[in-house]
Amino acid sequence: MFLRGCVTTPATLPKSLAVRRLFSSSQKYFATAGTSLPQTIRQLLARPESSQPLHPVEVSGWVKSVRRQKNVTFAVISDGSWAPGMQAVLSNTNIPKNLTNGASVRLGGTLVKSLGAGQAQELRVDTVDVLGDCDPETYPIQKQALSVEYLRENAHLRPRTDAVASMLRLRSELHRAVHGFFEGQDFTHVHTPILTSSDCEGAGETFRVVPNTAQSTLPEGDAQEEFFSKPAYLTVSSQLHLEALASSLSRVYTLSPCFRAERSQTSRHLAEFWMLEAEWAFTRSVDDVCDLVEACLKGVLARITPDSSLPWSDGRLRSLLNAGQYDAWARMTYTDAVAELERHHASSRAFEFEPKWGRSLQSEHERWLSESFIGGPVFVTDYPASLKPFYMRLNDDRKTVACFDLLIPHVGELVGGSLREERLDYLVASMKTHGLDEEEYKWYTDLRRFGSAPHGGFGMGFERLVSWLSGIENVRECIAMPRWAKRMLL
Ligand code: 4AD
Repeated sequence: MFLRGCVTTPATLPKSLAVRRLFSSSQKYFATAGTSLPQTIRQLLARPESSQPLHPVEVSGWVKSVRRQKNVTFAVISDGSWAPGMQAVLSNTNIPKNLTNGASVRLGGTLVKSLGAGQAQELRVDTVDVLGDCDPETYPIQKQALSVEYLRENAHLRPRTDAVASMLRLRSELHRAVHGFFEGQDFTHVHTPILTSSDCEGAGETFRVVPNTAQSTLPEGDAQEEFFSKPAYLTVSSQLHLEALASSLSRVYTLSPCFRAERSQTSRHLAEFWMLEAEWAFTRSVDDVCDLVEACLKGVLARITPDSSLPWSDGRLRSLLNAGQYDAWARMTYTDAVAELERHHASSRAFEFEPKWGRSLQSEHERWLSESFIGGPVFVTDYPASLKPFYMRLNDDRKTVACFDLLIPHVGELVGGSLREERLDYLVASMKTHGLDEEEYKWYTDLRRFGSAPHGGFGMGFERLVSWLSGIENVRECIAMPRWAKRMLL
């Protein structure tokens, strides 16, 4: 009623007149539809040569290199849309002094067939506008090779390097491919909270969130002083919330940031990373979940194209594609995996940590299994319940749970997933064993009280996926602005 009251016309004006007045006074604030964005370098170069009429084009970007010759100067301009950028040819009578590496420019000219090797077309430049100078003496992104550590220190400028720009384009392409895959399977893309009251994985790696005031130094659990009604944390995984949504929509997924106060300084761990998580109802077995993960990765692989400035070569992608498309990926139980590890260790003393049933698999074990024993991706299933979080479904042997880790050569664990315990009494028993407060998780157990359905899902580290597909070894180079313990630059 109230809202409708706000928009009705004043009683003193005839209705039609009041509406007309409203439009005429506000019209000047509305832009006409459509975009006025000029074409990017990728769009310009993607058009077949024969269809390029010799009409003027405008190219904006940053100077990647300048090479002066007797009569002309060659400059490579990049706007980030296309790894090689565009070669611009300028007459030497027309070169501003500040046309240096890193400067931002707007060039006007015509696209012509290139006589040089390396590009089919180039820009014959008529006008040059240097929009932003860049002092070549002090510009941190010099042309010579720069160390990974140096670039990490310059996190705000490193996206200007070819490698980081390519990685960012790959992330974007993967995003699209992932969404395409899940849409094809009739999943609903959902948004889950970043702030949460629970530690899904129970590993004690949560970051606590408090207002930035003196009050925030009060001890945890002082409900009177909490900003929210209870302590809040940054999410380590969206899974529990996804389970609530899958209880209605059946098939859901999200690609969201996750946060873990992870102290290990490895090439696979970040404090802030992105996780692709899917959850769906009416599963029958852990194999169902593995099937979807395998199909998802193969589907994504088939949808992406190589980018020439990544460490990967075309060959690398092709071999991944071949492995992905034509072979069924190996699956073995944790019990069998430990038996193989024990056998190998007995004959070679190969491992620092002795493999034994009931112990976690160390990264040296995971690497041997995927890189040497299987020689490809391998799903290791049915781990001991004592090694896994509370929500996983207990197997009939009452010792193991219906779960898996997908191990990938040179990456390690890429995906973790499971069937979820849908039986209320089993879930409550597991919560007790894991020391969880049943009252705190009442909303979660309610999902089992009201129309509980067998369900399962998985989580895939997005940076680890980028690492696998790109050949970039450290996940710190697989995200634009990495965060890890003792490092927060911007
Ligand atoms: O195996 P994890 O801990 O599983 C979960 O969090 C489940 N709740 C997910 C689910 O079933 N919905 O994490 C899943 C994946 C790992 O396999 C790994 O690829 C990635 O998330 N991951 C990390 N990536 C970068 N830095 C970290 N600190 C990571 N921790 C986990």
